[in-house]
Amino acid sequence: MSTQDLVHPLEILNPKVRARFPMIDRDSMGNPRIYLNTGAGSLTVDTASEAAFDAQRRLNPMPGVVAAGEAETAGLHSRIRDLAADFLHAGDGREISFHQSATAALFNLAYALRGVLRPENNLVVTDLDHMANVSPWEAVWREGRGLEVRRAHVTSDGQLDVDHLLSLVDSRTGLLAVTSASNGTGSLVSLPRTIAAVRERAPHCLVAVDAVHHAPHGILDVREADCDFLVFSGYKVFGPMQGVLWGKAALLERLRPYRVETNKNEPPWKFEMGMLNNTSLAALGAALEYLLWLADLVAHKRDSPQTGAVPVWGRSLTSAGPEASIPDRSSKFRSALTAIAEYETGLTRSVLEGFRKFDAGRFRLFGISEPSRAGERVPTFAFDVAGFGATETKKRLWEDAGIQIADGNHYSAAVVRHLGRPEGICRASFAHYDNLGTVDRFLEALGRLTNK
Ligand SMILES: Cc1ncc(COP(=O)(O)O)c(C=O)c1O
Repeated sequence: MSTQDLVHPLEILNPKVRARFPMIDRDSMGNPRIYLNTGAGSLTVDTASEAAFDAQRRLNPMPGVVAAGEAETAGLHSRIRDLAADFLHAGDGREISFHQSATAALFNLAYALRGVLRPENNLVVTDLDHMANVSPWEAVWREGRGLEVRRAHVTSDGQLDVDHLLSLVDSRTGLLAVTSASNGTGSLVSLPRTIAAVRERAPHCLVAVDAVHHAPHGILDVREADCDFLVFSGYKVFGPMQGVLWGKAALLERLRPYRVETNKNEPPWKFEMGMLNNTSLAALGAALEYLLWLADLVAHKRDSPQTGAVPVWGRSLTSAGPEASIPDRSSKFRSALTAIAEYETGLTRSVLEGFRKFDAGRFRLFGISEPSRAGERVPTFAFDVAGFGATETKKRLWEDAGIQIADGNHYSAAVVRHLGRPEGICRASFAHYDNLGTVDRFLEALGRLTNK
């Protein structure tokens, strides 16, 4: 067998993966559709909806230690904290708190840093970020406390301008707020490298990472990144609307978040406002467990002689190894997300190759465009079709081919301003449940539009 015969396990397993997402082929009105809007919210995996229904129907609202139902609810909370901690390769579940959304988590985190950040500090945010990781820092620290908040630029190909970012950092920089993947242009940020370089200039600088857009596409590892805080959101990882905040245990102890007097004054409880949403937590648990299921499925497939890693798909899985020998849950998450990243790199390459065939006068991609650099981005594509506004392009793709994309600023306000499209751009975003057929149908429909 030649190496060219190798296909990625997730390509072969795609029908099994798609079967786990009930809404993958039709919308809630029964219209056939191709959902290319994972950037605005992924499809929900079957077990997440089932777990939500079961929790809403059955669970005792309050956690407690006496009645069996209370203990079950308390058990659910700590089980999902532990699962989320493993998803991020964090210390343990006490470092995980739950919030209405990632945005709410970041606002509370910004407020909670009073007593830690000092009047002489400055903060650095980035133009690549979703405003959820910009506005809280500006509102609380610049408008509220008069600290300087500096903004790192974006390069012409839609990446974080790391050199510019580093030029903004000095020994007084108290916090860097940075994304790990842009929901605007799809660019990845190398966190370990960037954070290490920042700390050379500002050894005590805290780092808050927005991993909401990266979470369904690749490994999140808070130890490897050496960040201090990280947020992600359940509805981007195949589950519910549920914000999740991780922080280093020792730091969380020092923070003073919004808290009512009667709430336990220790992490994680002190960060949580009101009762937890048991329905969402049950669904989040099921969504994360789906990734463990996927890791097993891929491992099993890798044992079969017809499959293996790359060259067709680019990155190899040598770092993760076969799941059969995986000792712990964090490694299993790593393995599932490594497989997803490999597979999606293949999809990205095919999309970028397809874009190259379009008339450059009619079609413009914002972001990394060379197929050989597919591994530097996630499969989120911001683009313009000349002669049509973003909403018109979206409407035509929907009416012509049932393809659902996004239009607007995607809350990446600085990115669209920087791209000279403040009124908004089109964004097609793929996930591991998509396949080369989805890619072809998207490219064909876009090709018909760019030829008009
Ligand atoms: C990169 C990024 N950060 C933050 C958010 C906001 O997440 P949430 O809706 O949970 O506040 C989003 C949502 O699209 C996002 O893509």
